Amino acid sequence: MKTFWFFPLLMLSPLALAEAPWGTVDLKAAPALHQKHCVACHARMYGGDGSKMYTRDGRMLSNQRELLQRVAFCNTQINAGLFPEDEASLAAWLNQQYYHFTQ
Ligand code: HEC
Repeated sequence: MKTFWFFPLLMLSPLALAEAPWGTVDLKAAPALHQKHCVACHARMYGGDGSKMYTRDGRMLSNQRELLQRVAFCNTQINAGLFPEDEASLAAWLNQQYYHFTQ
């Protein structure tokens, strides 16, 4: 009998491990990129370290995909020339620090 409850768990696990839209990233790259390309402008708008941009009331984003798209959008706007893996790293890092979206 013991094996039976195990099967549903096995079947669920791929869902639980569903990959975020940014895939596997190097989170360590993000803080420096963020400091270099992103902070100044957000801080000009919101003061401090600019992180209020990510925690403000009525923020625009509601899931991981939108977060990744927003990072890509800001990158294009400012012509920072970040590679897709940089955008991915930034999005994953912002999610870890501020957004905490699970999907
Ligand atoms: C030249 C200014 C500027 C720079 C540089 C900039 N952004 Fe932004 N960013 C904005 C503005 C303006 C908004 C908000 C737009 C709005 O409120 O409609 C924004 C919003 C965002 C948001 C969404 C905030 C929310 O509502 O939850 C994210 C995420 C973000 N930026 C990421 C980045 C990242 C990552 C970088 C660096 C690669 C970056 N931004 C660089 C101007 C900038």
